[in-house]
Amino acid sequence: MYRFIDYYHNEVQLSFEDHPFAANPKHVWVVCRYEDKWLLTKHSDRGFEFPGGKVELNETANEAAIREVKEETGGIVKTIEYIGQYKVMGKEKIIVKNIYYATISELIEQEGYYETYGPVLMEEIPEGVKKDRRYSFIMKDEVLKRSLKEVKKRFKM
Ligand code: GTP
Repeated sequence: MYRFIDYYHNEVQLSFEDHPFAANPKHVWVVCRYEDKWLLTKHSDRGFEFPGGKVELNETANEAAIREVKEETGGIVKTIEYIGQYKVMGKEKIIVKNIYYATISELIEQEGYYETYGPVLMEEIPEGVKKDRRYSFIMKDEVLKRSLKEVKKRFKM
């Protein structure tokens, strides 16, 4: 298990074990791959980030992950796998997020992309994300680096 402090100075715990913090977490985050590129979204307030969001009532976390990818990027999930979980000790509440790795079969153009400007493809996630104002705060702690490392190891990239 890893522990660190995030962009907003909240404590974060991260693990690549099987659901260590909550069996049914309320949040999801999806590292996406489409045609040998990373698929992100551009959130209208936060900037570039991997898609994700909240699990709705009557939906599993896995279903939420597939839905959020579609809503925020237009991406159709081909395969999806749980890879880990993190817990953020926020000022007001504690949240737990499942991390997934998804491969995308196609990108469908949509009228709108909910709170985002839609899909953004990147060959590489740049080194300087932490200091780059175009990137979301959720991309600015160790969750990104360690999740990409885990994905590359598990899926032999
Ligand atoms: P609302 O019901 O809409 O208020 O959402 P919520 O409070 O259930 O969750 P929200 O997504 O607003 O997250 C609450 C807080 O958790 C945020 O203000 C962030 O500080 C923190 N948080 C949410 N997602 C992440 C994340 O991916 N990484 C980090 N480091 N913090 C996060």
